[in-house]
Amino acid sequence: MRFRRPHLLGLAGLDAGEIGDLLDRAESSWEAAGTAGWRAKRTPAIARLSVVNLILEPSTRTRCSFEIAEERLGAEHLSVGNEGLSLIKGETLSDTGRTLQAMGVNVFVVRHPEVGAPARLADELPGAHVVNAGDGTGEHPTQGLLDLLVMRRRWGELEGRRIVIVGDVLHSRVARSAVHGFHALGGSATLCGPRHLLPEAVGWPGATVVEDLDGALEDADAVMTLRIQRERFVAGEAVPDRAAYRQKFGLTRERVERLREDTLVLHPGPFNRDVEIDGEVIDSGRTEVWTQVRAGVAVRMAVLSVLAEADPAPEKGP
Ligand code: CP
Repeated sequence: MRFRRPHLLGLAGLDAGEIGDLLDRAESSWEAAGTAGWRAKRTPAIARLSVVNLILEPSTRTRCSFEIAEERLGAEHLSVGNEGLSLIKGETLSDTGRTLQAMGVNVFVVRHPEVGAPARLADELPGAHVVNAGDGTGEHPTQGLLDLLVMRRRWGELEGRRIVIVGDVLHSRVARSAVHGFHALGGSATLCGPRHLLPEAVGWPGATVVEDLDGALEDADAVMTLRIQRERFVAGEAVPDRAAYRQKFGLTRERVERLREDTLVLHPGPFNRDVEIDGEVIDSGRTEVWTQVRAGVAVRMAVLSVLAEADPAPEKGP
């Protein structure tokens, strides 16, 4: 089935056909994604878009790659963050959306600290398209798609592949989207980290949960390491002893050297060098981190192009 939804709010619930459709579109934008100054022939569908990137939590990769994708497609766009909006004066996100909609904005790319905020906005703004650009510990579907794209480019298909995701899985929207997408395409995930940063496997389809990283890495097809998300903890340091954490759960040079030669090493960024991954590993060229960033532009071009052709959510009845 092709992706024909009015919004992209998560990868949970998408089937292999819908994900494959988005990945095929991203594949066709691969050259554009890596080429400075590239401009698409502006289609009538893109010309009808007016995109606002509402970036209400810090972001480098997602914000900049959406902006670059919008620029390269030729879509009207602007980006705003907390500091530039009247949210700080007490306006609700819904009223901010309605205000922008009254100016003709019809696509909202939303990064927000609260789980479900983009979905609520989608409900409240009939006629608009909403893309979840990361909602708290919820989902980060365009990140999930870009991770899938990098793996699919290497392997052709994901059926039967196993990815190890290590670190602060509990708080990771990146991990959640990756697991849903990977499972839909026939892969499985091993989730690894300190017990208090691991979820129950329930709700993480096809995933198993372990604490032994070295065992998990044996014969893995890919490993994705995650940052400890200190901003998501209510109080105190989640990992008080970083050296001990690195020893047990870090992608150290020694661990990476023990991987199969063809095991992909992924990190969504931003990374904390010498905590969850050694700086040496990043600089060695052994990882896919910069390919992931390029894939981010391709995926965001694809998502915006597909939404441009989709019917918006219908107006609600009385
Ligand atoms: N991976 C990711 O979402 O990075 P940013 O927070 O920099 O956008």
